[in-house]
Amino acid sequence: MTEVTEFRKELKAVCDEEWAKIKSGRFFQMMKRPELQRDLYVKSIVQVYHYTKNNAINQAVACWNEDHKKVGLLRFAMKHAYEELGHENMAYNDLIAIGVDPAEFEKPMLPATEAFYGYLDFVSVCRGIIPRLGYSFWAEDSYEHLEPLMDVCKNGLKLTDQQLTFFVAHAIIDEKHSAEVNAAIDRWVETDEEKAAVMQVARTTVYLMGKILESVADEF
Ligand SMILES: [Fe+2]
Ligand SMILES: [Fe+2]
Repeated sequence: MTEVTEFRKELKAVCDEEWAKIKSGRFFQMMKRPELQRDLYVKSIVQVYHYTKNNAINQAVACWNEDHKKVGLLRFAMKHAYEELGHENMAYNDLIAIGVDPAEFEKPMLPATEAFYGYLDFVSVCRGIIPRLGYSFWAEDSYEHLEPLMDVCKNGLKLTDQQLTFFVAHAIIDEKHSAEVNAAIDRWVETDEEKAAVMQVARTTVYLMGKILESVADEF
């Protein structure tokens, strides 16, 4: 494993600060109430499905305006896009496995989810691969922050690893992704401007993730 650079330490601090706000927010507080746990889990995973279905596509789209000479950066983004394809099916299958009606996925996504999804499209189309790394930086390595939710799923809802593929099997794939994203950041994020762009996307995407969870809490 390569040494953590100063920049990645700063990036992690910014993400952790946003996550701390999320974890003290209503979603995580409500998760402690057994009678709400199943519905909170189901409703949040439906939203996760909606933004995950676009991740591979917007990662691929981020390549379109990139300098063709940055072959390594383009290779990273294309490979990552390919490897994210279909991951929303893990979220879908996990809910179907516990008896959730498929019609739940046909309902319009919550506005905060659409904002998250739309923002990532904007970053990908207008800003490109390097700024989008700010999203991948935490998204591939967010399992530590989701620990309270995992605890509820396993010990409260008694879900098995086979019913939690989005969190369990996915985490194994994402360990490799996280290492690749970190390597891409170390190699390609060079100028102060690039660092600021990555930082901004990281902060905004964690913030918007918090708004998705808050919106799920608002449904009760
Ligand atoms: Fe994934
Ligand atoms: Fe991933």
